[in-house]
Order: sequence, then structure tokens, then C-alpha cells
Amino acid sequence: MSADYQVHGSVAVITLNNPPVNGLGLATRSAAVQGVQAAESDPAVKAIVLTGAGKAYSGGADIREFNSPKALTEPTLHSLIRVVENSSKPVVAAIHSVAMGGGLELALGCHYRVALPGAQIALPEVKLGLIPGAGGTQRLPRLLGLEKALGMIVGGSPILSEKLAGSLLFDEVFSAGTELLPAAIAFAEKVADARPLPKVRDRAVKHPDAAGFLASARAQVDGAAGPFPAPRACVEAVAASVTADSFEDGLRFERERFIQLTTTSESKALRHAFFAERSAGKVPDVPADTPLRIIATAAVVGGGTMGAGIAMNFANAGIPVTILEMKQDALDNGLAAIRMVYESGVRKGKLAAEQLEQRMAMIKGTLSYDAIAQADIVVEAVFEDMGVKELVFRELDKVMKPDAILATNTSTLDVNRIAAFTRRPQDVIGLHFFSPAHVMKLLEIVRGAQTGKDVLATALVLSKKLKKTGVVSGVCDGFIGNRMLEQYLRQAVFLLEEGALPEQVDRAIEAFGFAMGPFRMSDLAGNDIGWQIRKRRAIESPGFTYSKLPDLLCEQGRFGQKTKAGWYDYRVGERKAVPSDTVNDMVVRHSADIGVTRRAVADEEIVERLVYALVNEGAKIIEEGIALRASDVDMVYLSGYGFPLHRGGPMFYADSVGLPQVLAAVERFAQGRQGEAWQPAPLLARLAPLGQGFNG
Ligand code: NAI
Repeated sequence: MSADYQVHGSVAVITLNNPPVNGLGLATRSAAVQGVQAAESDPAVKAIVLTGAGKAYSGGADIREFNSPKALTEPTLHSLIRVVENSSKPVVAAIHSVAMGGGLELALGCHYRVALPGAQIALPEVKLGLIPGAGGTQRLPRLLGLEKALGMIVGGSPILSEKLAGSLLFDEVFSAGTELLPAAIAFAEKVADARPLPKVRDRAVKHPDAAGFLASARAQVDGAAGPFPAPRACVEAVAASVTADSFEDGLRFERERFIQLTTTSESKALRHAFFAERSAGKVPDVPADTPLRIIATAAVVGGGTMGAGIAMNFANAGIPVTILEMKQDALDNGLAAIRMVYESGVRKGKLAAEQLEQRMAMIKGTLSYDAIAQADIVVEAVFEDMGVKELVFRELDKVMKPDAILATNTSTLDVNRIAAFTRRPQDVIGLHFFSPAHVMKLLEIVRGAQTGKDVLATALVLSKKLKKTGVVSGVCDGFIGNRMLEQYLRQAVFLLEEGALPEQVDRAIEAFGFAMGPFRMSDLAGNDIGWQIRKRRAIESPGFTYSKLPDLLCEQGRFGQKTKAGWYDYRVGERKAVPSDTVNDMVVRHSADIGVTRRAVADEEIVERLVYALVNEGAKIIEEGIALRASDVDMVYLSGYGFPLHRGGPMFYADSVGLPQVLAAVERFAQGRQGEAWQPAPLLARLAPLGQGFNG
């Protein structure tokens, strides 16, 4: 049973009980229907309270049941809501903590709704590429009016119950500290004899100019929805609450659109991303009950671009942080850069004015290791140079208190070598933030060969506290994200050698959905970073082939936006990339110099070569165990590299294209120019003929 049934005097209490959030899977729906039937047939029962156990009233439908026969097995969510709505005895939804999606729709089918303050109320289906499918689009407008209901349904974000107090959605929002169940039972006793029972379906939707409002809503949504069909479908379904001939017709319309949306690639990609995010924090050999270290204070070594951003993460999460720098002016610059970010936050209304000084007060600066010795965690973000890292970690090993976590933000250096500079490699871990570190969601958590399980578990919890998506990576050059990116960028430049120009490559991949093409992105990040890495690579792996074009660019000092010239030209004070004749001439000349006859490159080839370069390397990363699962690779690319969300990440995208087709393309490219870059990943070659995908 995944709902409990108890009778308190004349009130039956049905408690949804399906941890963690009382998802409305088949067993829970069946138990709830049985509860209503038991209450109906018990003459001593005059009213019913429907509530949820534990951390939620109900988080909604069981998403894992979508696209499976279980979702359509009776009682469906529709049937459960009908049973509740048609009950001859009043049903009171007693809401606390979370009432979302199907959970809220179930409450809308009840005759009365009472809630504790602080409950999160939402119809978030749009975030999974869907619309509410169990009457939400028909019932919510009847209670909140067209405008407010549409805002909640298209936006999908939660609203606190107390903000909805006084609306028809709630008959009562209790004061803070009220004990929900006794209050809900008292309410149920009060309405036990009220007849006729109020049903949301019987209400009319009110709006002085529904047609005008809906027309402007359509225009607005069409402009903002990008490739996603769900927001427009939300508007159409809500419109049906006004235009359909009957409530039942409106429900039918909603149902049809919902079912159709479940089959779209966009919704499948969003649901994949939803689960990918949840599984990213799970490490098979680190159980959920692994003891954690306490992180109450933090330190950051190096207050440059990354160090400043990392320090803000701690301050924003309420963890006091001390920045250690080498020289006073570098420290002053770092703290000034932080202040500027917060000031801009205040100007943009993202931060209240009084919060600025509160945040700054959380961040101290020092030039002395003694001042950070007692920090629970220290994140090193000094120059990307093994010699400098060695100095810092030897010093940290000397001064830091026992049990402090020693983290490095290195992008490319060997975390195991860094750990070996200390006598406590079990305390060392990589925390690879992305730039700008106070904005980007991704945090690669790099597990060294000796990193302690408690250190890893603590880092995973910390990533949540810092509002990051933490993805665990093993140690390799570039970890998950940058190792794949190197192959992607390599192909981007080979394409230039063969006949494309930067703006064509960028345009093609941006049309595929990337936030920014490789050349605009490199100009933003700084072309000199890759230059340094290639110089190191040339020494470490002499056989590695790559185009000399980016080196030629850097030799001209074209480092990107910061020098106003990179793959593109930039006017002073502007970020707009303007195609550069100098660069385009250089590209064409370079092709001639290396004896390549330029050809027309199709946009389709650009997309295939860039995306499959990611996929092929991603497959190697999974097979080597650097990534724990394909969905982790997808999460890295969705949250850190601007991979189009509606395509679900590179590995999910490859699955949806079909691995045989991806493998055929990789084999074709392996026959072409620079074919050595295209050795098919063994995992891809193995899975393709089996009809399997990377994600199962
Ligand atoms: P940066 O050059 O902006 O900052 C480095 C700072 O470290 C400077 O302020 C310098 O004064 C300070 N520093 C150097 N040696 C020090 C020492 N011995 N003690 C104390 N402070 C010292 O460099 P950035 O970009 O912030 O990079 C730092 C680290 O983060 C590098 O390992 C880099 O690979 C990594 N990283 C950089 C990313 C980026 O996009 N810039 C992204 C992710 C990681």
C-alpha cells in the first residue's frame, strides 16, 4: 500500500505514502481510490482529508511511468481525480511542503483545499516539455483566473502557498506553526454537511477580454519558446478552458495535447536531463550514509578570475571564506572584482542593497597561510602551472588543520600528482569550476586515485549547497568536459582548413542549438588558453595532430574579445563578433600553404563532425570509467558547455539519431582527411550493432 487510511472520529484521513515525494504511481493511485471507497462505504465517516506523508503533499505524477503502460493502467490519475471529485462526502486536500504537477491537479479535484504556509505550489510540467495532463489547465483558470493560471502553467515555477492565500485556490492557509492534520480535520468537520459540494469544474473562467489576452499570450510565448512546443501548447490548453464547449471537451483537448507532447524529442530530452541531474550525484561505491565532513568555513588560494568567482560561491551560500593571495595589489584587485559583481547585481535588482555589504563581510583577504589554516576546505585557484601548484600544496599540507579538504581547481593538470605533493592524498580532490564561477552551474568533482569517500561525499553535498550541478569525473587530461571539447575544437579548425570560415561553422552549430559556436566561444574564453595547452601537448605527445591555424592567430596577438581581435573583430565597447577579412584571408592562405584545395562544406557536415567528435570522445570517457554513466557526460555538456537542452546532451542525442548511423559517420570521417582523429570508440562500435544506446 502506498497510501494509509485512518478514521479520526467522523473524518477519514487518506495519507499518500510513497517516499520521497509521494509520486502518484499506480500503487499510490490505487490505494487512494480504495481509501475514498472505504470512506464512502463507512456510515460513520462524514468527510475525508487527503494529505501526504513525510516531505510532501505530493510531487506529482510518477515521471518514470510516462511512455510505459503503467501510466494508462486503471486507476489513472484522471480516474483518481474523478473518484475524488464525485465523492458524495466532502474531500479536503491538506497541503504542506510541496504540491506540484499531478499532486496539485489532485488537490484541484478535491472540494476544499487547506494549506500550511511555505508550501510550494506549481504546475511545472512545461519544464519537462509537457503540459499538465490531469485537468490542471482546465481547473486552475477556474480558480485563479486566466492570467494568473496561465502564468503559473507557462512559467512552471513554484509559488508559496501564503502568496495564494485569499484566492479561490485555498479555502484556508493556516498560520505558521499550525499542526496541519488536526486543523484539516477540524476544517473537514466544519464542512461535513455542506451541500451541494463545490466542484471546481462547475465554475466559469472569468476574464474581461479573454480573446485579446490569449492573442497577446500566444505572441509572447511564440517569441520566447525557441524550439520547445510545450509553452504554446500550454496556452492552447488554457485557452480551451474558455473556448471548449464543455469542461469535458476541455479535458479531452488537454489530454490529447499532453499525450502528443510525451512523444516529442524535446520532452524526451528534458526528461532525460531531469533524471540525469538527479543521478549525477550518485556514486556506486559511495553510499548515501557515508559520513560527511563539516564545511562551515572556506579558503581560496589565488584571487584571480576563478578564485574571485569561487569565493563568491561560498559567500552566497553563507559560508565565510578567506582569499589568500601572493601580493596586496592582487588581493585588492580580486576583492574589487568581487565588489563590482555584487554592485552590478544590485543595479540589476538581483541583490538587495543591504546584501552587498553582508556578502562582502563574508569574504576576507589575507597574504598569510596562517590565516586560512583552520578552514574546513581550501580551493586552490593559482596559475595553471605544476610548479606553482606544488609550492601551494606543500604549504597547504604543512599548515592546514587535520581533516581539512584540499581542493584544486586545475583545468588540465594531474590531480593525482597534485595530491602526491601532500602527505594526505585522501584529503585532496579536484573541484573544477567553470568561468564565470559565480554563474556557471557545472562543477566537475574530480576523484583522485586516493580521494577519501567521505571527501567525495562531502564535495557532492557541497556542490548542492553552492547551487551547482556536481558531476564526478575521474582523473584524465581535461576531465570530462574539456577532454571532449578538445576534439570538438580540433574538428572546428580542420573544417576551416578544408573550406569553411569561422562564421559558417558558428552559424551552423548555433542553428543546431548551441548557445555559442566554437570560434565565438574561443574568443570569449581567450585563445591564448588553448595555445598554452597545445604547447604543453606538443611536448608531452609529439604525435598529436592539430591544425596550426589557432597558433597563427595567437602569434598575431589575436587572443579574442580581451584584445578586441580573435577569430572575429570586436569594436571597442561591443561584444558583437564581426567577421574579419584578416582572419578569413589567413584561413584561405593557410589551406594553400598546407596544400589543401578548399571545398564547399555543408552545414550538415559541420554539425556532424563537431557533435560526433564529442560523442566519440564521450564514449571513450564512459568506457574508461572517467564518467560513471552516459547521462553524466550529458549533464556536463548541458550545464557547462551550452549544448542545446532540447537535444538532451551529446550521448542522448547520439542515442536518438541511432548509434549505427553515428558509427557509420565516424567510420566515413576516419577515411577522410585527418582520419586518425576518428578512430571509432570501442564502446560505440560495440553498442551500435546491438541496437542499444549509451543511455540504455
Ligand atoms: P588568474 O591568472 O586569473 O588567477 C590566478 C591568481 O593566482 C592570480 O591572482 C595570482 O596572483 C594568484 N597566485 C599565483 N600564485 C599564487 C600563490 N603561490 N599563492 C597565492 N596566489 C597565487 O587565473 P585563473 O583563470 O583564475 O585560473 C586559476 C586556476 O583555475 C588555473 O588552475 C586554471 O587552469 C583554472 N581554471 C580556469 C578557468 C578559466 O576559465 N579561467 C576555468 C576553470 C579552471
